[in-house]
Amino acid sequence: MAASETVLRVPLGSLSQSCCLASFFVNSTPNLSFKPVSINRKGVRCTNSHEFSSVSNSAVGGNSFHSSNCSLKGKKFVCKCQKHDVEESIRSTVLPSDGLKSDLDEMPLPVNGSLSSNGNAQSVGTKSIEDEAWDLLRQSVVFYCGSPIGTIAANDPSSTSVLNYDQVFIRDFIPSGIAFLLKGEYDIVRNFILYTLQLQSWEKTMDCHSPGQGLMPCSFKVKTVPLDGDDSMTEEVLDPDFGEAAIGRVAPVDSGLWWIILLRAYGKCTGDLSVQERVDVQTGIKMILKLCLADGFDMFPTLLVTDGSCMIDRRMGIHGHPLEIQALFYSALVCAREMLTPEDGSDDLIRALNNRLVALNFHIREYYWLDLKKINEIYRYQTEEYSYDAVNKFNIYPDQIPSWLVDFMPNRGGYLIGNLQPAHMDFRFFTLGNLWSIVSSLATNDQSHAILDLIEAKWAELVADMPLKICYPAMEGEEWRIITGSDPKNTPWSYHNGGAWPTLLWQLTVASIKMGRPEIAEKAVELAERRISLDKWPEYYDTKRARFIGKQARLYQTWSIAGYLVAKLLLANPAAAKFLTSEEDSDLRNAFSCMISANPRRTRGPKKAQQPFIV
Ligand code: GLC
Repeated sequence: MAASETVLRVPLGSLSQSCCLASFFVNSTPNLSFKPVSINRKGVRCTNSHEFSSVSNSAVGGNSFHSSNCSLKGKKFVCKCQKHDVEESIRSTVLPSDGLKSDLDEMPLPVNGSLSSNGNAQSVGTKSIEDEAWDLLRQSVVFYCGSPIGTIAANDPSSTSVLNYDQVFIRDFIPSGIAFLLKGEYDIVRNFILYTLQLQSWEKTMDCHSPGQGLMPCSFKVKTVPLDGDDSMTEEVLDPDFGEAAIGRVAPVDSGLWWIILLRAYGKCTGDLSVQERVDVQTGIKMILKLCLADGFDMFPTLLVTDGSCMIDRRMGIHGHPLEIQALFYSALVCAREMLTPEDGSDDLIRALNNRLVALNFHIREYYWLDLKKINEIYRYQTEEYSYDAVNKFNIYPDQIPSWLVDFMPNRGGYLIGNLQPAHMDFRFFTLGNLWSIVSSLATNDQSHAILDLIEAKWAELVADMPLKICYPAMEGEEWRIITGSDPKNTPWSYHNGGAWPTLLWQLTVASIKMGRPEIAEKAVELAERRISLDKWPEYYDTKRARFIGKQARLYQTWSIAGYLVAKLLLANPAAAKFLTSEEDSDLRNAFSCMISANPRRTRGPKKAQQPFIV
């Protein structure tokens, strides 16, 4: 295959329907096999995708699109995306069924795949913060040939350099998607899931090197381009970025994991399992799993990644086995296990998944856990233990215990450390990884409560004036210089280096509801409400107490808005948190206790034969 071509999975038998890739998905049935089809690198094109949206049985009904302007051109089914068609289709596409029409009537119409910036930052008058947030969230919706498919990262009219904030980021869309699901607006989520699945198979190269098949993009953009050979017409193209254009060329390891988590939430919330059961979607799940479960040189069950491969997408000393990736990995494995339909040939994958779940669960609970007792144990560690039953397995030198930790660790409470590698424990507290470990039950019940205890005990440090610190503490001085490479954006207590990110409110809410402690989230939401709307929904806040809007923070950052909305919606309806949480099942619990009792750290007995755990 020529380098300028890419391979997409397309179910056999659909080609006669149209050349619209989106329609292929619509018409696929679970037993169809796949045949690679080559398409031009230039893009997934806006073709008859309107049909695609109209098959959904979501609350956003009545969005059929008249395809009178569509025609077959060679192998492509092309629609003239003339402005009035798009406007028409958007009016009918985004209207929710729950009587919010009057708000939407004031919505500015999108231009080139997203909304014009002059539709932004309107005064909210007497509107509640929540109403304002809904308006802003709707204004951030991106359309692809008339169908909503995502939300842009930020819609900041004051920003002089847009960079890639006008794109749909996979991770940023998760709270948007959940807000829409909780509101009963399912189309956008379904479209997002299916269109990003198409991008999974995209040709992706950086300087002639291709990352693994199955990688999901970090972000994508809807581009309007002139139609080949016909200047009077345009077509819309989805243009993904797998990190090959991103600052620092970071790999979006978290994208596929979030995609699986959202897919499961979609099924749970809508009750419509037909999306996850589709052959193409099942193949997509398996491709992500294969990429994550591939054999390598690793000694640990944790996923080995480079720096900046998740929400913290810059050099921050989180290469190796960062907690955020491990929590999302575990969560994605649990969700995939629930969704995979058994079929011939998938036994090995399911076995590998189950074994990894048990090993990962054990590894994190045992070796990442930190509380006062464990610090004291590390403080007295012997080093250079060459043996199978070493207590200090990773050869951690007690001098690594940072001085701040002694004051930070409360008598009651604990947390999972940021990273673990040979002779290295990253003792920083990373919020997302800890919260998602609670949500996914990667942490035990006791550990989950202890993490929340710590957040309460260290409120002034972790929440202060605006929830929630992305990590604690900030790196300063020489440490900042060496570890970030003197990154001027990640100066101490700014951005990823100890800044506060309002989007994390939604994960805090899910975690605290799961543990029966919603008052923690309520307190945080109340605090956010004091400023967030007045401050124009910043991306992040700076300083130790989060008193300033971040130095380079975008305003009207979509996931700050959506994070707040999800928190509000869940606090009003805590039962809905179940769409996102996973409970540990008895198989996993048993396997974990077997491993605990066989752990030499506790028994120091003769080495037992290693057993694979089949769950
Ligand atoms: C920044 C953040 C990243 C986010 C992106 C878009 O790069 O670090 O987590 O996805 O902005 O908002």
